[in-house]
Amino acid sequence: MNRQSYEKPTILKHQAALANKFGRSPGARALERIDGQKVTDLARQFGSPLFVFSEHRVRRAYREAYRAFSQRYPKVQFAWSYKTNYLDAICRIFHEEGSWAEVVSEHELNMAKRLGIPDSHILFNGPHKPLEALESALLAGTHVHVDHFEELYACERIAKKAGRVLGVTLRVNMDVGIYPRWDRFGFNLDNGEAMDAARRIASGGHLRLDGLHSHIGTYITDPTAYGRMAGKLSELALAVRRETGMVVKSLDVGGGFASRATLHAQYTPGTDATPPIDDYAEAISRAILGAGFAAGELPTLFLETGRALIDDAGFLITSVVGSKRLADGSRALIIDAGVNVLFTSYWYRHDVLPAEDRGGMLEDTVVYGPLCMNIDVVRPSVMLPPLEVGDLLVVRPVGAYNVTQSMQFIRLRPAVVLIGEDGQIDVIRRAEELDDLKNAESLPERLAAR
Ligand SMILES: Cc1ncc(COP(=O)(O)O)c(C=O)c1O
Repeated sequence: MNRQSYEKPTILKHQAALANKFGRSPGARALERIDGQKVTDLARQFGSPLFVFSEHRVRRAYREAYRAFSQRYPKVQFAWSYKTNYLDAICRIFHEEGSWAEVVSEHELNMAKRLGIPDSHILFNGPHKPLEALESALLAGTHVHVDHFEELYACERIAKKAGRVLGVTLRVNMDVGIYPRWDRFGFNLDNGEAMDAARRIASGGHLRLDGLHSHIGTYITDPTAYGRMAGKLSELALAVRRETGMVVKSLDVGGGFASRATLHAQYTPGTDATPPIDDYAEAISRAILGAGFAAGELPTLFLETGRALIDDAGFLITSVVGSKRLADGSRALIIDAGVNVLFTSYWYRHDVLPAEDRGGMLEDTVVYGPLCMNIDVVRPSVMLPPLEVGDLLVVRPVGAYNVTQSMQFIRLRPAVVLIGEDGQIDVIRRAEELDDLKNAESLPERLAAR
């Protein structure tokens, strides 16, 4: 008979008030399967930690958003925000669904082109577009979203040199009641700067104002803010039309719709608190349709929705590698995935769910990652049942920004698999090896080992 190992007893306060009406805390639920695939099988086959994406959820979120907007507005075009998740397979799914690409750097631009996206279906944002990239994008017909006056002058010089009149979009920022204001990007509308930029385009003779763009922030839970933004953008377009004769062909309302993740400070979980996509669609469509555009001059509505379309489709499987009592007696679990791959832990209260329901009393637990850094906290407090080394947990939703913002700080980045709609599982990014990290380095001859 195996002798049980001694464990020092701890006195726990029973937190009955946290139980729901069925007598258990929501933290007790196990997440045994993702799209029908057993979490334990996925970890056995592909290792831990492991990012898992559900193709079904990506397509469902896109279709739902497209339906919400296209039912209300006649000319809608989504452009997938590459920075939110630029794994080729994920971008490809969005493109298959009809999405264009929204990029903010040369490497994102090149990723879209490598996936076969035509230049005219790429929106190029960002405060820094190196001259060479700006020139080739403009000449190729990419939708360039101009961020500041120096960039506007550079576009004029490029057009002049080419002897062509080139179309541009102006990025505009404004006060719509969302604070802090995202006023670092684009031309300010409220102080007249955006109109001045439009006047400059009209009088310069080298450029044409094709579009107006605004991105008011991210995880915005107030759809009425989008109504105000779309209304102000429409007014600007109409003012430009009146004053300069230029017809603004597109209004781009950026991204920023809240996903169903929960912020740390949020009381109600995101699954309940986040407005349905229809509310955003209603506010935006109503504002543009009611703005007074002439028949035949209704602009195309561009959307660069990121997190709201992908967050729910991403999961991270991770293993318990150790447990301990901290000095104050509270329970801590160490897992094999840290904030280097779960960047959103800083602002999201992710679900951390056991992969198997073994019962046992729930206890408030702090969940740490494996980085030897005090900042590596995945959840400062979550109710979890007893767990042992090797037990699996699933962290969700993690589809937005974690893969693109992950880094090889202390640990290399894990594999990513995609579960197809037919249940087929493909590795869409293999786990990194040391060479992936070291290949770009070189050791000077004088320091090489002799
Ligand atoms: C210009 C632009 N468009 C789209 C997005 C996507 O935003 P979100 O993921 O909040 O929808 C961002 C993100 O910050 C952005 O800067």
